[in-house]
Amino acid sequence: MPSIHTYDDTQHRAAVIALWRDVFNYPTAHNRPELALARKLAVDDLLFVAVAEGTVVGTTMAGYDGHRGWLYSVAVHPAWQKRGLGAALVRHAEAALTALGCMKINLQITAGNDAVAGFYERLGYAVEPRISMGKVITANVLG
Ligand SMILES: CC(C)(COP(=O)(O)OP(=O)(O)OC[C@H]1O[C@@H](n2cnc3c(N)ncnc32)[C@H](O)[C@@H]1OP(=O)(O)O)[C@@H](O)C(=O)NCCC(=O)NCCS
Repeated sequence: MPSIHTYDDTQHRAAVIALWRDVFNYPTAHNRPELALARKLAVDDLLFVAVAEGTVVGTTMAGYDGHRGWLYSVAVHPAWQKRGLGAALVRHAEAALTALGCMKINLQITAGNDAVAGFYERLGYAVEPRISMGKVITANVLG
């Protein structure tokens, strides 16, 4: 089983970028992996990687704002899926948020990826009647 560590920019950067490109391939500029990493590291280090044989095979990012905790970027390399690693990554992020005093964790699932709700339901999450809204701050999305 891969081991889970806090992200280290020197060791993990290239592999995380490659994994996110493979797994998510978001078209939006504000989700560019390089930019997402830079902005996350400027705020906190709630970014975790699963490492197997020296390479990153999974990630999860957590966020905590004093009110809610959030999960982002839960990803497992296809070769490592269905072996419990996704669950271990989510539990690791949950433990970090719990240690910070977080009382509730939220996450979003992109339309079209609805089936992944089953993964989170096994981990105790429930679909809630909410409308998710967002606004991009274009002035902060460089390049
Ligand atoms: C979703 C993802 C992280 C799951 O990782 P994983 O390592 O395969 O998951 P696990 O092996 O830990 O699975 C835990 C449980 O969830 C179930 N599960 C996993 N993927 C599932 C899916 N897509 N739909 C329903 N159930 C799923 C597993 O069968 C397992 O159930 P069990 O405990 O009864 O055996 C992985 O499939 C992935 O990276 N997907 C692409 C990126 C993505 O969609 N991320 C989520 C963004 S919101």
